[in-house]
Amino acid sequence: MTKSVLVLFLVSILVVGCMGGHGNGHGRGNGHGHDVAGGLKMKFYENLCRLVSVESTVREIVWSKVSADPSMAAKLLRLHYHDCFVRGCDASILLDPTQNTTTEKTAGPNRSISGYEVIDEIKTKLETNCPGIVSCADIVALAARDAVSFQFRRDMWPVFTGRKDGTVSLASEVGGNLPSANANFTTLLSQFGTKGLNLNDLVTLSGAHTIGLSRCALVARRLYNFTGVGDADPSLDVTYAQTLRQKCPNPQNPATTLEMDPKSSLSFDSNYYRALNQHKGLFVSDAALLTNRQSALMAKILQNPAVFFAQFARSMVRMGAVGVLTDGQGEIRKSCRVVNGQ
Ligand code: HEM
Ligand SMILES: *[C@@H]1O[C@H](CO)[C@@H](O)[C@H](O)[C@H]1NC(C)=O
Ligand SMILES: *[C@@H]1O[C@H](CO)[C@@H](O)[C@H](O)[C@H]1NC(C)=O
Ligand SMILES: *[C@@H]1O[C@H](CO)[C@@H](O)[C@H](O)[C@H]1NC(C)=O
Ligand SMILES: *[C@@H]1O[C@H](CO)[C@@H](O)[C@H](O)[C@H]1NC(C)=O
Repeated sequence: MTKSVLVLFLVSILVVGCMGGHGNGHGRGNGHGHDVAGGLKMKFYENLCRLVSVESTVREIVWSKVSADPSMAAKLLRLHYHDCFVRGCDASILLDPTQNTTTEKTAGPNRSISGYEVIDEIKTKLETNCPGIVSCADIVALAARDAVSFQFRRDMWPVFTGRKDGTVSLASEVGGNLPSANANFTTLLSQFGTKGLNLNDLVTLSGAHTIGLSRCALVARRLYNFTGVGDADPSLDVTYAQTLRQKCPNPQNPATTLEMDPKSSLSFDSNYYRALNQHKGLFVSDAALLTNRQSALMAKILQNPAVFFAQFARSMVRMGAVGVLTDGQGEIRKSCRVVNGQ
């Protein structure tokens, strides 16, 4: 027992050490300025808005929303993830459908996405005080950080900024890019891989499920008909499966909500990994993390909150750089819901 704890401790030092990078990278760059992958910078807006501090404006509004409604933290975190995984972190998820196009937010996995009004409120305030400067994509990235950080009253990860907003959003691109709740390890790793994210990012970012809600519809198959013969998923803890069936009676109300981390779904902590290691991960995609030796080891290490926070910071910086538009690319939208000139 003591020995295995020691081994885990050593491995975690190794993992964190090797992957240090920008985990706490306030201003740490590659030797010239503050550039990181994707051409983003720390404090990109510092000298661009004279009347307001962009980052303080975002934080103030987000903290007041999360304080009034703690469930907003998970919503804003997920919004950033869904944005980044489809066409990069370019705020394509915010575009409303037009007469001719069905945008990302109209696609299947959209239903439970929210938080759009918070982004609108921030954008309106920034357009008033600093018109045409701050991208919706950066607002989404900052809001995700601030939403999670409210609980701690300090920034949980650095957000590099300078993203531009995209002009294209297609519902048809959502399905192939966003992993499904029923995805196996191979599929998850390859879907993260196409975003330049690796196994450690996959296991670490899945820890976002330490906050927030899901719905019965997404686990019904695991509980009632896993292989088509009226069975439950054998990889799910038997007692926990029973509890979940009580919460989601069959035929279930598909809208009934479930916590992914039932012990503390409003608290950003490492309890997701404790539950996961007890075979109480909610989705097939969560349980899948235990089906590979390396990711299962990572899932053990991340039970340590300090290690989880450090790794999460690092992986959020990496996710926040996926497919970003910078400099001459894209535009700064006037309204986050509409491409300029439409
Ligand atoms: C590894 C692949 C992932 C899969 C298959 C997945 C799947 C899901 C599903 C099915 C839900 C429930 C949605 C609903 O009720 O309609 C959910 C919720 C959530 N996901 Fe993920 N997710 C993944 C990765 C991530 C990542 C990388 C993040 C953020 C970094 C994230 C953050 C969240 C949050 C915060 C919620 C709760 C949202 C709320 O309470 O409104 N997920 N996820
Ligand atoms: C939308 O479709 C209509 C009719 O097909 C067309 O006249 C219009 O130019 C389209 N608008 C855009 C922005 O593509
Ligand atoms: C979400 O997607 C569903 C199904 O594709 C659609 O019926 C619904 O209108 C969409 N919701 C929003 C808010 O766009
Ligand atoms: C994982 O899922 C994919 C897509 O559904 C499937 O093609 C593949 O065979 C699965 N891999 C394993 C190891 O089960
Ligand atoms: C279980 O799955 C099988 C195969 O997909 C399907 O034929 C059957 O109708 C399902 N049973 C229930 C109760 O949904």
